Amino acid sequence: MTTTLITNIGELVTCEATCGDGSPLGIVRDAALVIDDAGTIAWVGSASIAPAADERVDVGGRCVVPGFVDSHTHLVFAGDRAAEFSARMAGEPYTGGGIATTVAATRAASDDELRASARSRLAQMHASGTTTVEIKSGYGLDVSNEARILAIAGELTPETTFLGAHSVPPEFAGDRSGYLDLVCGDMLSACAPHARWVDVFCDSGAFSAEESRRVLKAGAAVGLLPRLHGNQLAHGPGAALAAELGAASVDHCTYLTDDDIVTLRDAGVVATLLPGAEFSTRAPYPDARRLIRAGVTIALATDCNPGSSYITSMPFVIALAVRDMRMSPAEATYAATAGGAAALRRTDIGRLAPGCSADLVVLFAPSHAHLAYRPGTSLVTQTWRRGSLMFSAGVGLGQLGSEQ
Ligand code: NIG
Ligand code: FE
Repeated sequence: MTTTLITNIGELVTCEATCGDGSPLGIVRDAALVIDDAGTIAWVGSASIAPAADERVDVGGRCVVPGFVDSHTHLVFAGDRAAEFSARMAGEPYTGGGIATTVAATRAASDDELRASARSRLAQMHASGTTTVEIKSGYGLDVSNEARILAIAGELTPETTFLGAHSVPPEFAGDRSGYLDLVCGDMLSACAPHARWVDVFCDSGAFSAEESRRVLKAGAAVGLLPRLHGNQLAHGPGAALAAELGAASVDHCTYLTDDDIVTLRDAGVVATLLPGAEFSTRAPYPDARRLIRAGVTIALATDCNPGSSYITSMPFVIALAVRDMRMSPAEATYAATAGGAAALRRTDIGRLAPGCSADLVVLFAPSHAHLAYRPGTSLVTQTWRRGSLMFSAGVGLGQLGSEQ
């Protein structure tokens, strides 16, 4: 490999305060960065003093941000739930009951079908600037299907999560404890080799605190790191349990008490907000400002799944966070990059500072604020991962020009 200089960056968002203007976004104007031959950032600073490299890429004054870290997705599934979405838009509530529809379709799909559809969604994510994605199981709900979902997920990302406790499958209706025995026994044994994380849907109508604790502890006992779905559908024990078990993140956080928020902050648990789910279920949005005021670290993610949030675009999630959760464009951009990295306990991604992976997005825009300012337009002209160009937009958008 060669070294690469990316220069003429009008606004470089590093998410590293010490690299830039001192704000959390660490902005450097008229900037450049150098990528070493291992795909790592070697240098960041003012373009006028940039060192030479083997190759030079001029981005024409555009904005460069870290690649988005989508820390919560359910990317491997089959089937379609557009009718459920349409019914919700006509007033039906979301309960999570549709999970069974996707489980039936996923079980019936071949490995190749699951692989192809997941890859196609991942390609959409790359085109939207995502460079790291977490993928959960949870639409198999038996030993062989959970294991094959995770094996396919593992072909796409190292950030794989065992979510056998997503729902009780129909064959265990009336035998919750029998299903939990399976999840914590044979299913966990088959899935653990393919997973980094263990997750549980701890919510009203899903799994209780006691059930969730059992699953997360069983996962931890075989080396999986805990994270969980909590406080999506109602106030509940998810956030407190995340703190008790030292989870990296509690995801959704739509219904939180003041005590939950203090507990999350004190335990250093990331609150991952998934406003695509509120958008797609017409639920109230989480109160991001309350979390920010308390000093809780926030991540933003798509929650891409066929039921509550069939969304692959992190820029769209940023726009929702700004418009509907009153985050500033800077806060939302940080939460979609460095925040997602924190939710995955990664220090090598989500920032553009020396030593980090050269995962970055060139925007067809002069500043990160355009991500929320121009929703519905794809502003991603290039996505780079580990120093290599992995997505480039078509000629019209990709051409360097003065008009942005
Ligand atoms: O994160 N909350 C639980 N699970 C998914 C949705 C699952 C579905 O409806 O298929 C979520 O929103
Ligand atoms: Fe989810």
